[in-house]
Amino acid sequence: MGLQFIARGAFVALWLLGCTVKAIDLDTSSKESICNATVLIQAGIMDYYEGSRYGGTVGMFQAPYYWWEAGEVFGGMLENWFLCENTSYESVIYDAMLAQAGPDYDYMPSNQSMVEGNDDQGVWGITVMDAVERNFTNPTEKGAPGWLAMVQGVFNTMYSRWDDQSCGGGLRWQIFTWNSGYNYKNTIANGCLFQLAARLGRYTGNDTYLEVADKVFDWMVDVGYIKLSDKANVYDGATTDKNCTDITTIEWTYNQGVVLGGAAYMYNATNGSSIWETRLTQLLGGSTDFFFKDQIMYEATCQDSKTCNNDQRSFKSIFSRMLALTSTIAPFTAETIDPLMEASALGAAKSCTGGSDGHTCGTNWQLGSNDGQYGLGEQACALEVMQSLLIHQRPAPYSANDGGSSVGDSNAGLNKSTTNVLHSDLTITHKDKVGAAIITAVVIAVIVGGAVWMMF
Ligand SMILES: *[C@@H]1O[C@H](CO)[C@@H](O)[C@H](O)[C@H]1NC(C)=O
Ligand SMILES: *[C@@H]1O[C@H](CO)[C@@H](O)[C@H](O)[C@H]1NC(C)=O
Ligand SMILES: *[C@@H]1O[C@H](CO)[C@@H](O)[C@H](O)[C@H]1NC(C)=O
Ligand SMILES: *[C@@H]1O[C@H](CO)[C@@H](O)[C@H](O)[C@H]1NC(C)=O
Ligand SMILES: *[C@@H]1O[C@H](CO)[C@@H](O)[C@H](O)[C@H]1NC(C)=O
Ligand SMILES: *[C@@H]1O[C@H](CO)[C@@H](O)[C@H](O)[C@H]1NC(C)=O
Ligand SMILES: *[C@@H]1O[C@H](CO)[C@@H](O)[C@H](O)[C@H]1NC(C)=O
Ligand SMILES: *[C@@H]1O[C@H](CO)[C@@H](O)[C@H](O)[C@H]1NC(C)=O
Ligand SMILES: *[C@@H]1O[C@H](CO)[C@@H](O)[C@H](O)[C@H]1NC(C)=O
Repeated sequence: MGLQFIARGAFVALWLLGCTVKAIDLDTSSKESICNATVLIQAGIMDYYEGSRYGGTVGMFQAPYYWWEAGEVFGGMLENWFLCENTSYESVIYDAMLAQAGPDYDYMPSNQSMVEGNDDQGVWGITVMDAVERNFTNPTEKGAPGWLAMVQGVFNTMYSRWDDQSCGGGLRWQIFTWNSGYNYKNTIANGCLFQLAARLGRYTGNDTYLEVADKVFDWMVDVGYIKLSDKANVYDGATTDKNCTDITTIEWTYNQGVVLGGAAYMYNATNGSSIWETRLTQLLGGSTDFFFKDQIMYEATCQDSKTCNNDQRSFKSIFSRMLALTSTIAPFTAETIDPLMEASALGAAKSCTGGSDGHTCGTNWQLGSNDGQYGLGEQACALEVMQSLLIHQRPAPYSANDGGSSVGDSNAGLNKSTTNVLHSDLTITHKDKVGAAIITAVVIAVIVGGAVWMMF
């Protein structure tokens, strides 16, 4: 009995020791502490990575994580490469970005071509733009263009799908008629186009991009997706069936973040113009009002009800990245953004006590402990909010004339046949809808038939 008691005591002591060692200790004033924390978090990310497994696909995470989310996660890891100055994952990130670029280097890989939406392509584009602005290792593979040319390929193919036939403009959510969501024009697709245009404009100094950014932003305001006020709202989208008057007023951090980030780049590219200062201030007002509670970031629409899906559980990651970038290229926002990021990072660290490794991160950063929800999205969010604390210790995003070295091609993607065919085919009549339904049926038949065929 005595022995048993001692054994039990020792076990409890070891267990307690294990917990304190395993939880993520975050000293927000220490770069080493922050980067140590992100080592653990990225190890958690790599648990989901297919590309490092035998027979796995480079650049993809395991099901149920979609292709777009891989784009988002690699964006966070690329920022980590830059902010922590740690090259351990450099080749993983490099290989992933090249493997998923597709045959035309515009982030339309053949594996995704049946299902890819404008938003998916746009999120990858934002990550590759980060490679451009962070002077990430340039591609050396034969035939591969520079990262900048790839972003221009994404931008050109996306913008060629601009559709004046309904809603007075805008991009549809889906690229292909057979996907459900083709009749929805959403903020994330248009927000990505806006942001890419703003970043390309700032980086290259080519005003054409800034004009496009202005046009996309104005459209989102006109149609009511962005409601400017001291606390600007960014809504999700609307359908072409109703000419975009049936707005889905749900708000997500990633929509707000992508539009906020784009506005910050416009502010910087226009040398601090008062019009973009006002818009940026308004968008920041909405961001802090709606997506922070007790100074800590949260996914207001679904977090407290624990109904966030896999996609939604990753949104705080790109939102964190955008807030951090905003605080560097629009320095007047830093006094608002920095304390919120610090409080959120500390909250996130307290959530990283779950899982068998003892440092798996949760969704809810207000709780002060782990909420039992875990996944790739939770890891990505914790990574980005914590590393964002280093943003002012490293250079701001480079441009072509101060540090960037990526080779561009402003015509990239323009002679792609699917781009132009789709663009000229955008008038949707009843006949086309029936056609689309038939294509959908055929596609499903081929997929189901193919699967059945393979089983025998
Ligand atoms: C960071 O990790 C290294 C290696 O594990 C360790 O030696 C160091 O003390 C850690 N630093 C901090 C500030 O936690
Ligand atoms: C760099 O990252 C790797 C992989 O996460 C990690 O093992 C290593 O400790 C990191 N180096 C430093 C100096 O933090
Ligand atoms: C495309 O999918 C196949 C089958 O899953 C896979 O083997 C291949 O690596 C994928 N290619 C890319 C570029 O994702
Ligand atoms: C576009 O056209 C140029 C010149 O005709 C050609 O060199 C290039 O390979 C083409 N690009 C694509 C993606 O088809
Ligand atoms: C559709 O919406 C656009 C933009 O708000 C507007 O300019 C256009 O007149 C509308 N068309 C119809 C048919 O209502
Ligand atoms: C940018 O703004 C500063 C301060 O207002 C001004 O001195 C400078 O000339 C402007 N530069 C350009 C390129 O507009
Ligand atoms: C634009 O960004 C740079 C950092 O790249 C910053 O130094 C500069 O102050 C910004 N411009 C304005 C007008 O805030
Ligand atoms: C960017 O990368 C190029 C090529 O590796 C290099 O020559 C240049 O010094 C880098 N710029 C910065 C600011 O590090
Ligand atoms: C600026 O960008 C536009 C749009 O891609 C392109 O047509 C034009 O050639 C570019 N101008 C320069 C000087 O590169």
